Amino acid sequence: MEELVMSNREILDACERIGADLTNRLKGVSGIPLFVCVMKGAINFMVDLMQNVDMDILTDYIQIRSFEGMESTGKVTLIKDASHRVKDRTVVIVEDVVDTGISMDFLTKHFQELGAKEVIVVALFDKKDARKVPVKIDYVGKVLEGSKFLVGYGLDYRGLMRNVPFVYVPTKDEVAEWDALLEKR
Ligand code: IMP
Ligand code: MG
Repeated sequence: MEELVMSNREILDACERIGADLTNRLKGVSGIPLFVCVMKGAINFMVDLMQNVDMDILTDYIQIRSFEGMESTGKVTLIKDASHRVKDRTVVIVEDVVDTGISMDFLTKHFQELGAKEVIVVALFDKKDARKVPVKIDYVGKVLEGSKFLVGYGLDYRGLMRNVPFVYVPTKDEVAEWDALLEKR
C-alpha cells in the first residue's frame, strides 16, 4: 500500500453524515425518492449509505463502463439501465468516484431525459483536479487532490480488490502482482 485514503471507520462515518443530510433533504419531496447505485464500483458505498437513510426509498442499479484498467476511455457505454420508473421522481445517483466527470455527466443527462423531477448526486470521492467535464456533486465523502488511482471498497483494478473494506493507493509492485495473477487464470 502506498497510502491509506479512507479507513472503513472513516467511510462509515461519512455514510452516517451523508445519510442524515439526505434524510433531511428528501423529507419534503413528493413521491418516493429513487436511489440509483452505479455498478459495480458504488455497490459497497450504496449498501452502507442507504442503511443511514431514515425514510422510505426505492433502490435501483445502473451499469455503465468508462474505465479500462487505470484510465478513463472518455466514452460511456450503458450496460444495464435502471428498472424502476424514473419519471417525476427525485433520483439520487450514488457513485464511488467522480474523476473526469464524463460518467456523471452522462448519468445526470440520462435521468433528466427519462423525466426525473430532480437529480441529486452523491459520490464517495471527488477527484476535483481530474475534471474534464463540469459536474455538480451534492454530497461528497472526501475531496481528493491530484489524480491518484484508488482501490478497495468497491473500487477495482481489473476487477480485483473490490472486497477490501478500506480505500487505498496501491504501489506499482502491487499492481504488477495483480497483472501477474490475472495472467495465470
Ligand atoms: P469518470 O467518468 O472519469 O469521472 O470516471 C468515473 C468512473 O471511473 C467511476 O465510476 C469509477 O468506476 C472509475 N474510476 C475513477 N477513478 C477510479 C479509481 O481511482 N479507481 C478505480 N476506479 C476509478
Ligand atoms: Mg463507477
